[in-house]
Amino acid sequence: MMYNSRNIIIGLIIFVGIFTFPFVLGAGKANEAPKLSLDTPKINELIKKEPIETVEFMRNNHMQLLSDWKVAVVRDGNRVYVSQKDGQEYDMSLQNTCLDCHSNKEQFCDACHTYAEVEPNCWDCHVAPEVIR
Ligand code: HEC
Ligand code: HEC
Ligand code: HEC
Repeated sequence: MMYNSRNIIIGLIIFVGIFTFPFVLGAGKANEAPKLSLDTPKINELIKKEPIETVEFMRNNHMQLLSDWKVAVVRDGNRVYVSQKDGQEYDMSLQNTCLDCHSNKEQFCDACHTYAEVEPNCWDCHVAPEVIR
């Protein structure tokens, strides 16, 4: 058999290129944070455009918060959440509370989840809001 070293080198370059391509794409993506829209009727009505806890807390802990709400409602029959930030009370509901403010689910929840590559299965059962723009 004859080996053509030039073809092998070209082959290697293509191979390395294909393998690093996704990482190069990933690197570009990391710099480009999703644009989160807060432009909803409910949020526009707020005097202070603030979340139910601090933004930091919401960003890092909303999954746990939702999970706690679910347990509180389904297991303990408790529907009232008291904000640790300001004592304000909220109905512990994905649809009636979170998605009342974030009624633009696609431009808010989905935008970030697509970016973070997470796909919560909640919408198999819970009703997502009508698309409001
Ligand atoms: C009273 C209206 C309101 C309710 C109810 C509400 N939010 Fe928010 N949320 C906001 C506002 C306003 C922000 C502030 C965003 C900012 O300033 O960047 C925010 C921020 C967030 C953030 C952080 C976004 C970021 O910039 O990283 C997440 C995540 C979030 N909310 C999820 C939820 C979830 C989940 C629920 C229900 C458990 C919920 N929100 C309930 C109004 C609300
Ligand atoms: C700033 C980005 C961001 C925003 C905005 C955001 N999420 Fe998330 N969400 C994440 C990330 C990142 C995870 C995965 C966290 C992990 O796996 O630890 C996640 C996970 C979740 C989970 C858990 C999924 C699972 O299968 O365990 C739920 C539920 C959820 N988000 C609901 C919401 C809802 C509802 C909204 C809109 C009201 C929202 N999120 C907005 C970033 C965001
Ligand atoms: C297999 C169906 C199913 C899936 C999937 C599901 N839920 Fe639920 N969830 C329910 C049912 C049924 C209730 C009870 C409704 C009630 O008592 O009001 C509930 C209640 C809740 C509640 C409290 C009540 C309310 O109105 O919101 C929260 C919060 C909640 N779920 C969050 C979530 C989140 C977050 C996800 C995704 C990570 C999720 N659920 C996925 C069926 C589901």
